Amino acid sequence: MPANLVVGAQWGDEGKAKVIDVLSKDTDIIVRYQGGANAGHTVVVKGKKYVFHLIPSGIIYDNKICVIGNGVVLDPTYFLEEVASIEKEGFDVRGKTFISDSAHLLLPFHKMIDASIEDGSDSETKIGTTKKGIGICYADKMMRTGLRVGDLLFPETARNKLKTIIQNKNREMDILYGLPGLNEAEVWDQLMTFYDLWKNRIINTSFYLNEELKEGKRVLLEGAQGTGLDVDFGTYPYVTSSNPTTGGALIGSGVGYHFLKKVIGISKAYITRVGEGPFPTELFGDEGSRLRELGGEYGATTGRPRRCGWFDVEMLKHAIRVNGMNAVALTKIDVLSDYESIPVAIGYELDGKKINYFPSQGLERVKPIYKEFPGWKSDITGINDFKKLPKNCQDYINVLRELIGVPVHMISTGPDRDHTIILAG
Ligand code: IMP
Repeated sequence: MPANLVVGAQWGDEGKAKVIDVLSKDTDIIVRYQGGANAGHTVVVKGKKYVFHLIPSGIIYDNKICVIGNGVVLDPTYFLEEVASIEKEGFDVRGKTFISDSAHLLLPFHKMIDASIEDGSDSETKIGTTKKGIGICYADKMMRTGLRVGDLLFPETARNKLKTIIQNKNREMDILYGLPGLNEAEVWDQLMTFYDLWKNRIINTSFYLNEELKEGKRVLLEGAQGTGLDVDFGTYPYVTSSNPTTGGALIGSGVGYHFLKKVIGISKAYITRVGEGPFPTELFGDEGSRLRELGGEYGATTGRPRRCGWFDVEMLKHAIRVNGMNAVALTKIDVLSDYESIPVAIGYELDGKKINYFPSQGLERVKPIYKEFPGWKSDITGINDFKKLPKNCQDYINVLRELIGVPVHMISTGPDRDHTIILAG
């Protein structure tokens, strides 16, 4: 049976969790494959809001298995807090979740160093990270000095590894950042608290997933962040430190590529971004605030106000290209209902010349070419039949469909699970 993938087409916060929630109904296993507690996935069911950071949002279904893949960086302390808060809502987490033995452990010094670099940066060098330690942990992974979840299965060796890691990190923190050192025994105790509760759920998730797929199970790969934040295909260096894109989904889950069937790109009907970095269609001042308030655009993880701007066709085409997206879900279309007319960036000019791609250099110099589309000026919240949308709204979606050249399979008209139009298979 197939694995389907949900991947963000913009700078994260596209409403992936809502789409994942809708698709989870027809899925057996939901897998997070990259990122860490920097993500904030919001799902609304019957008016009640749930926010997930590390645990796949499919956990709110009774009969689904959730997997934290090898590509995730797992902060064990944060993870336990999140599990506790979800279990308080009455959901079983431990009985339904597996953790990859190859996922890297994100430890307190990762967060301390991330925050210290961010706080010490000037406007030229600041990335605007979530300060969750993500980049520092992935750097250790690439340096081959990280500790993995599976190391804990051999406590004696893991403790020795941790001793060396803490020794080196304490020196680095002192010399480079003027930060106090960490007590190795305290960090070990935190790890053991996590291990005692979760040791029976740590497995080789790549093996598990491929076996389940062979047996006919349906798998949904859940991306965090988005293509614009991909360390290779995003707006480097203003990116996260993982690959949310399709290649990263295969690497971060260990699912064989031949199982992958649908790659569904999630795009808001406009664009938002948190943190620093270029954003060609960004709106400033009152215009930006208006869209932010209409869309309730505040970060689910950090509460930061999101930067807002108009839909950008070149950006979506870039995402379609690098991910091999064969379907798009358009979210938050209801947020545009208040506008008399809606500008869409249908192309780019760079240094006075038209270009037909999303440039990897010089995006800050790009001037969007806009076309205005008539608004519909009526509340469409919750409509779940395309034909019931106002004519101008239907036309707007049809035009976007033509401009991006990929079918729109799902349209979200409000935050709730039921506020969804499904257009095709
Ligand atoms: P980091 O992932 O915390 O290192 O942050 C790097 C960049 O990615 C910053 O601009 C963050 O605001 C952004 N970012 C990280 N996670 C998310 C997310 O889930 N949604 C939106 N932006 C994110």
